[in-house]
Amino acid sequence: MGAAEKVVILDFGGQYTQLIARRVRELKVYCEIKPYNVTLAELLEAEPSALILSGGAGSVCKHGAPRCDEGIYGIGVPILGICYGMQLMAADLGGIVKEAQKREYGKTSITITKRVELFKGLGEQLVAWMSHADQVREAPPGFAVVAVSDNTPVAAIADEDRKFYGLQFHPEVIHTPQGQMMLSNFLFHICRFSGSWTMENFVELSIRDIREKVGDEGRAVCGLSGGIDSSVAAVLMHRAIGSRLTCIFVDHGLLRKGEKEQVISTFEGHFNMDIVVVDAASEFLSRLRGVTGPEEKRKVIGNHFIRVFEREAQKLGDVEYLVQGTLYPDVIESGTATAAVIKSHHNVGGLPEDMDFKLIEPLRHLFKDEARLVAQELGLPEEVVWRHPFPGPGLAVRVLGEVTPEKLSVLREADAIIIEEIKKAGLYRKIWQAFAVLPGVLSVGVQGDGRSYAHTIVLRAVTSQDGMTADWFPFPYDVLGQISSRLVNEIAQVNRFVYDVSSKPPATIEWE
Ligand code: XMP
Repeated sequence: MGAAEKVVILDFGGQYTQLIARRVRELKVYCEIKPYNVTLAELLEAEPSALILSGGAGSVCKHGAPRCDEGIYGIGVPILGICYGMQLMAADLGGIVKEAQKREYGKTSITITKRVELFKGLGEQLVAWMSHADQVREAPPGFAVVAVSDNTPVAAIADEDRKFYGLQFHPEVIHTPQGQMMLSNFLFHICRFSGSWTMENFVELSIRDIREKVGDEGRAVCGLSGGIDSSVAAVLMHRAIGSRLTCIFVDHGLLRKGEKEQVISTFEGHFNMDIVVVDAASEFLSRLRGVTGPEEKRKVIGNHFIRVFEREAQKLGDVEYLVQGTLYPDVIESGTATAAVIKSHHNVGGLPEDMDFKLIEPLRHLFKDEARLVAQELGLPEEVVWRHPFPGPGLAVRVLGEVTPEKLSVLREADAIIIEEIKKAGLYRKIWQAFAVLPGVLSVGVQGDGRSYAHTIVLRAVTSQDGMTADWFPFPYDVLGQISSRLVNEIAQVNRFVYDVSSKPPATIEWE
């Protein structure tokens, strides 16, 4: 994607690389992450106007450390090296890097010894997050040492002529409180960017890119799930190529209450898109008969989903492109420049790699919250924009044991009540994900005049940043009470309601 102001982050395997990207984007500058070993030609093709060299666990003192093409220092753009990135830059440009006697880890006090643009607006002392074993002992020719710490004689270096800067600490983490200021100084004072990248730009650039790729004739197909990712990808694609896009929406019988109707009314009704709705519920449910293991269920659903999708796509005739709503965190660009490893989750309800399509992933550089901003920009309804994540295999991963139409119907009703009450209480957006689970536990109760032997409904509600870790949501008792009374009153097959107070880890978000 061509953007006038563009930072390329070379990823040396650091745990904070995505966070750097995020911070840069928060400052309204577009950036992309590339693997450290990208070729110079490929890098130039991306037309970076600044580079950031990320941290990483390697040691430049050791053989086999990750190194980038040294040509990067000759392309004439400002460079910021962070931690390993600074050590590598120092080593590449003639400085001396050695293993430190003492590993430095955690919050450290830094003293600025030379006022450079990178430190504009900062005091003389600052707190910074360090995590390194090696140290720059001597700055390379042309560089000045501009900050020190007790343990690190060279905590920051700068070559103001070439606009090369290095920080031994991590400006991108919140434990470096003034870190964002340094990144902002780098982007606005050193690179002289204007910070004009917005979601509107993103939409415009994406549409232009898609049109270039697909041409005037090309046709595309998109698997629409109703979730935010595939919805945004589909609407972007539709803006770019109009009726040459067909969406396939597979109803596998494991959807939430009203979900199919909502997808149809939004995309067909509101956006006027071409959607093929496949009613495949009975095919899926018959394949799930007798299947109780969670992995087995996922496999059955995943495999059949592929088959149904292929069957429907074939009916469309000559279609060259497949649109997917893959988001940045799902793409781990590792080792080689082209390898993209998709999290195993996303292969479930996802599509196989050997399908005969060219892939278009317009969101592959975005984070979930950025995808939400794009969704708003594209005019997607609030309900889609803020919808909680929903797994590809749907309600099947929330029914423990065998999935039957009866259990699905109880779960669907319970889930609808829960979500309705959460929305009514104004809590929906405070929660990452909330849903009902049917553990399949039947127990004795008293209902009306008689004894009942009925289902338990579990409420799972968590807060999270990215779904990788999660905390249970501190649910107000009165809302729990309201949900409880509605569930047992409105669903005859339910006589008990419990709240799950487990975090992830050790639990997962879903129950399966
Ligand atoms: P767990 O249960 O592993 O879930 O803590 C983490 C997040 O991933 C979602 N999830 C899925 N998303 N396809 C998806 O697109 C899947 O097969 C899948 N399984 C789990 C889950 O809802 C949570 O947000």
